[in-house]
Amino acid sequence: MLRGTVLGTADIIELTGKYQMANYARSPVAFVRGEGAKLFDAEGREYLDFLGGIAVALLGHAHPEVTRAIAGQAGTLLHASNLFHVPVQSEAARLISEATIGGKVFLCNSGTEANEAAIKLARKWHSDRGKEGVFEFVVLEGSFHGRTYGGLSATGQPKFHKGFEPMLPGFVMVPYGDVRALEGALSDRTCAFLFEPIQGESGVRMPPPGYLKEAERLCRERGILLVADEIQTGLGRTGAILACERFGIAPDIVTLAKGLANGLPLGAAVARDEVAAAFGPGSHGSTFGGNPVCCAAAKVVLETLRSPGFLKEVSRKGEIFRNGLSDLASRRTDVREVRGMGLMLAIEMDVETKEIAQRALQNGLVINATSGNVLRFLPPLTVDDGEIRKALNLLWDSLPTEGRK
Ligand SMILES: Cc1ncc(COP(=O)(O)O)c(C=O)c1O
Repeated sequence: MLRGTVLGTADIIELTGKYQMANYARSPVAFVRGEGAKLFDAEGREYLDFLGGIAVALLGHAHPEVTRAIAGQAGTLLHASNLFHVPVQSEAARLISEATIGGKVFLCNSGTEANEAAIKLARKWHSDRGKEGVFEFVVLEGSFHGRTYGGLSATGQPKFHKGFEPMLPGFVMVPYGDVRALEGALSDRTCAFLFEPIQGESGVRMPPPGYLKEAERLCRERGILLVADEIQTGLGRTGAILACERFGIAPDIVTLAKGLANGLPLGAAVARDEVAAAFGPGSHGSTFGGNPVCCAAAKVVLETLRSPGFLKEVSRKGEIFRNGLSDLASRRTDVREVRGMGLMLAIEMDVETKEIAQRALQNGLVINATSGNVLRFLPPLTVDDGEIRKALNLLWDSLPTEGRK
């Protein structure tokens, strides 16, 4: 390999294997460019991206306004530290607050860090009220909250814990969707109920009707904080800025990341004013948190999400996609369920889906297999009707012929 030559896929794969730890199961494709809902690999092949960098490419790849904002900020100021005020950061925080639950924002660099901030904030809030020993989080089986020890300990999937034990104390796991189990787990030690409104990583698992509303009521009665991890469900994904709105609940703390800066690393924990007040100077921090370039991108993302008709379009396109998936399911014997909300959709199948996702990739469609037998779809929210139709056709071609009716 010569310095300065354009690398082919095989060279890139070799380079990855030689110098990066093997902690990701990467598909043998190297993406070099994106445009809207399209990706292009090192061989110049075009793909339709219905994974969106796992819900990150919210406005699509290389969105011109995002690119302009990033370039402008990169040429102005990259970093000044959080020892000072940074105008673009203040503006991004205002937009995040206004778009979500009001209150105040802590900016960080990823989803797991946003959850760490939420966990610390919730404990501190109780501690400030003189309630020592109120430190437990009730969390759900099947959940995913990140890979640092706080987020990992809150994650209700043993496979992520294996080899990394012991987990942190203070996380009580209950079955997903079981109101009585939740009620039984809430105690004088419970500081917060931490949940994803829809469980993304474990296969777009929907809460049973009324579950979250009932959970909210139980927490309110007991003075327990409601912490919504909207890292995957948030920012318009379900047709509302927060999925909590779709379920009629109002969390005390919300965490965001993924598409917040359309691909640049930015996370946020947003809390009601009274809860946010638990963080004073020195109680929490991050050197890069709220980086100006990321904040410039986030401003474009939030302004776009709040532009007239944008979220309605997400819901409309979500319906088109969902109907297409239901139609596909009706022509097969091996699809158990079509589920999800807005442009966070999935099909659960009778068969393993890993190979199907690989076949789809070969056919030019990027999708993701989760939980063994689920295919998950998280396209950019800017995807158009024609791209949805094309993705449905590519998906059909990628499914095993045996399951056709
Ligand atoms: C619901 C949820 N929470 C937390 C995380 C962790 O986010 P990050 O990978 O940015 O740390 C993810 C990532 O997939 C997620 O889906």
